[in-house]
This record gives sequence, C-alpha cells and structure tokens, in this order.
Amino acid sequence: MRRRTLLTGVAAAAAAGGASMLASGPDYQEAAAALWSARDPASFEGLVHYASLAANSHNSQPWRFRKTTEGVTILPDLARALPEADGDNHHLFASLGCAAENLVLAAGASGRSAALVFDPSGGGSVRIALGHAGEKHPLFDAILERQCTRSAYDGRTVPAPDLARLAAATKVGGTDITIVEDRARVEQVLELILLADAAQVSNPAFAAELKSWLRFNARAAVASGDGLYSAASGNPTLPTFLGRFMFDRFFTPERENDRYAGQVRSSAGLAVIHSEGDGPAHWVDAGRACQRFALQATALGIRHAHLNQPVEVASVRPQLQALLGLGGRRPDMVLRFGYGPAMPRSLRRPISAVIEA
Ligand SMILES: Cc1cc2nc3c(=O)[nH]c(=O)nc-3n(C[C@H](O)[C@H](O)[C@H](O)COP(=O)(O)O)c2cc1C
Repeated sequence: MRRRTLLTGVAAAAAAGGASMLASGPDYQEAAAALWSARDPASFEGLVHYASLAANSHNSQPWRFRKTTEGVTILPDLARALPEADGDNHHLFASLGCAAENLVLAAGASGRSAALVFDPSGGGSVRIALGHAGEKHPLFDAILERQCTRSAYDGRTVPAPDLARLAAATKVGGTDITIVEDRARVEQVLELILLADAAQVSNPAFAAELKSWLRFNARAAVASGDGLYSAASGNPTLPTFLGRFMFDRFFTPERENDRYAGQVRSSAGLAVIHSEGDGPAHWVDAGRACQRFALQATALGIRHAHLNQPVEVASVRPQLQALLGLGGRRPDMVLRFGYGPAMPRSLRRPISAVIEA
C-alpha cells in the first residue's frame, strides 16, 4: 500500500486469526508477467501500453489516451483524482507527465520523434506530435524493469558518477534536482516527512481515501487492475474485509512514522525534484523528470521509492523549500534511493479501459 505501508501488527494479528497470508498467487504473477512485457511501440496501442506503465499517484492511473491526427493526446481522468492526498491535482498532472515521458521514449524506440506541449484548454492535456526522425534512447529499456520499491534498502552509498548521471537525467524544462546524502541533512528532511505524514494519517478523510485505493489481496488487485497491492509494499495479504478492519485499527501516525524512519535511514539518500514554476504545465514537466529519475536509477541498478508527504501537506512544503534553500522554486517530489531487493510489480487496467475514441 503506497507509502502508508501498513501495519507491523497486521502480520501477527492475521496469523493469529488464521487469515490467508498468501502473497502473490499464480493469477497475480501471471497478470504481472503479461503486463510488464514488450509490445510493438510502432502501434498506438503499443505507445499507450508503455505510457500506462509509468509511475502514478496511488496507482490510480488518472489518464485517458486519444489518438489524434498529430499523434497522441493524454487527458486527465478526473474521476480518478485524489482530493485528499492531492487537492490541487499536482500529482495527477505529474502522473500524466510520467506517462508522457514513457510515451516519448516508446516513440523513439520505433524511430519517431515526439514533440510535447501542454494545452491548458479544457481541463488541461498533454499533446504529443509524432514525427519521423527519432531514435531509441537507452532509458527505453528500463521501462519494463522500473518499479517503486518500498522495501528497506541496505544502506550502501551510491557512487558519485552514478549520482551525477541521475541528476543529469532528471532535468526537464525548468525542473532540477537536489540530492541529499549528508546524514544530518537526511535527518532534517526526514523530520519534515514524519511531520507531514502524521498530519495525513491523523486525517480521517485522507485515511478513507487511501483505504479505497488499497488492494489487500491478489484477487482484488487483479480484479481492479489498479490501486496499491499489499504485497508490493511488503505487507501481508488479507481478505478484503479483514484488511479494511486491520487498516482502521493499525493505521496510526506512530506505526507509519516508525516504518518511514527505518526506510529513510536504510537508504543511500534522498532526491527532491523542484520546478521554477507552479501550475499544471510545470507539474507535467516535474512528472517527466521524476519518471526519468526512476528510469535512470533502474538502469543503474539503483532502487527508489516516493515519500511525498512534505510536498502534499501545504503547510510543510515551505519548510522543505527553506531547508533545502530552494528560494521560490516549488518542491514537487521527494524520493529515497539506494540498493535493495525487488518487490512484486504493480498492475494496470487494460489498454481498452484508457483509450478514448
Ligand atoms: C506524482 C506521484 C506521487 C507519488 N507519491 C507516492 C508516495 O507519496 N508514496 C509512495 O509510496 N508512492 C508514491 N508514488 C508511487 C506510486 O504509488 C506508484 O507509481 C504506483 O503505485 C505504481 O507502482 P509502480 O511505480 O511500481 O509501477 C507516487 C507516484 C507519482 C507519479
């Protein structure tokens, strides 16, 4: 379950209650293997396939894809917005940016160029014009391997040349990245993560929204093709009724903060993506940058996971901005990175559910 990585106590309680503790059963593994596999990037469906494998907030997949005369337009699916976690739709547009970045890379893999503009009309959309003169970028090969890895990492540091490659890959438009490795500084950022996390976890509306996106077992995850599957966060799988019951009892600021503190301290460092401006066009660029960070990290064998609480809680965001000396720049995303084991993959809805006439 996203960062709200549940409940140390759930495992013990569920075991005591004899609940099914099966992790990802055969159906889930089959679905994940079929999903995270190659398609022909020359086709529209192939482009949408790669785009929809992008990172996105709560795995809500808040996007629709329209074939146009110039190429592809990615539209927001506001029915999948997250009003509590993402009141201004920042993450929603960032998620469109993540998808757009994958789509651009897939276009290149089929020898096409891709020019991207943000169209503010209507609810805002990302228009991608395809041309003939493109080439495959090495990051394309990381699309099928990338995942947000919410495991504990092993504490090893990342070599400086790899950090430089991560930083270089992450600059899109007016975005930039600040990497925090100094342990005292990491602790200062962690303090803000925990402050914001406690505020969110204590908010019943936030908890209810998160709960609605949790998939407590493989069957529920496969059936919906969206949301946050327990095992992908290293949590036990449970029948849905029991998962919800446990969530209500164990989703507390103390438990969540403990988990996050451990995860951050196991990481090599933190990365904060920030933008020169604010508003949907900048958020799309931040999403593109975030996806490139994730792909470059994957290509280098480096794991990553999001910890966006201090950018989501509006009262904490200025503190992060001040701590990192960002001036007027808007912090968009906070990620941890390091080395650790892979987790089960996330799922997606079928392409037919996200393609629009
Ligand atoms: C804009 C954005 C915000 C996100 N925020 C968080 C977060 O705060 N905590 C977290 O654990 N994951 C976060 N994620 C990661 C998503 O939950 C993840 O991409 C999604 O569940 C799909 O999993 P995958 O990336 O492994 O395919 C975020 C992703 C995006 C693009």
